[in-house]
Amino acid sequence: MASTGSKVVILGTGGTIAGTAASATDSIGYRAASLGVEAVVAAVPALQGQALECLQVAQTDSKDMDAAVWQALGRALAQQLARAEVAGVVITHGTDTLEETAYFLHRVLAPRKPVVLTAAMRPATALMADGPQNLLDAVTLARDAAWCGVQAVLGGRVYGPLDLRKRHGWQLDAFGSGDAGLLGLVQDGVPRRFRDLRAAPPHAAAARLLSQDERDWPVVDIVSSHAGARGAVIDALVAAGAMGLVIAGTGNGSLHQALAQAAERARAAGVAVVRASRCLDGGVVGAPAGALPSYGALTPWQARIELMLDLMSGGVPDVVPGAVPDPGLRPR
Ligand code: SIN
Repeated sequence: MASTGSKVVILGTGGTIAGTAASATDSIGYRAASLGVEAVVAAVPALQGQALECLQVAQTDSKDMDAAVWQALGRALAQQLARAEVAGVVITHGTDTLEETAYFLHRVLAPRKPVVLTAAMRPATALMADGPQNLLDAVTLARDAAWCGVQAVLGGRVYGPLDLRKRHGWQLDAFGSGDAGLLGLVQDGVPRRFRDLRAAPPHAAAARLLSQDERDWPVVDIVSSHAGARGAVIDALVAAGAMGLVIAGTGNGSLHQALAQAAERARAAGVAVVRASRCLDGGVVGAPAGALPSYGALTPWQARIELMLDLMSGGVPDVVPGAVPDPGLRPR
């Protein structure tokens, strides 16, 4: 549904933006997901009096993100977006898996109203907490129909759901936007747009993913290729019930020979195996004869979500092509 309303709904899921520490100078030894979303919003004077609603969907450190929270979030988001009076939705989240949730929501809902994820690198109790400004910027974007689709805003920078990368463990300026660059900026409450989000319908399996018991979602694991990699890791995951595997390869998606051999054993056992790149940017280009398929530009974490969805539509991607509408996302 396109936007006609003026209300912004803020869905809280936890993270450092809702974190507290014993001291205002402590930005490392804090507890994430301690404050409720109402308290996080109440700390931003400029939001008082605005047409907002808060809903606590989860209260988690996003390192522990799982299918149950994703499903609850996806359902809550779909419900809020369907309300005519809602202009857009903000999601407060941890930074650690922000890029995974952004990609998940993009592929599962492909919303036609603004859905703006935001987070913080410093807890709410920090001397110079970054959460309040990030939240204010997120509400500004969520109210503006020109910013429809899933995006994230941090430090005044707006990132698309395919391009968001957490690239630093603790610095305030922790995010990058891959090869694609930023969607735009928010400066003193004024958004500036550099490029549009590529419109794509949701994945064909999205509705099933949201409605089906999340314990029945296809099990897809990620393995990394590295010096001394052991095929036994893949064998163990297959024995433990993996239905799909993403191998984060070196460089342009190349695999240690021990993993390549184990990948063939996994495929022979009916497990879908794709390769990605462990490099932060670039993805995988090309499909040499005999190489495992890949989802091109997708990161290993994005490829995991895509493979889960493809498996849910009933296909091992390189054997039974599924119905992924965006050719950029098909495994090659
Ligand atoms: C989390 O991801 O929930 C904790 C770390 C953070 O938000 O920066």
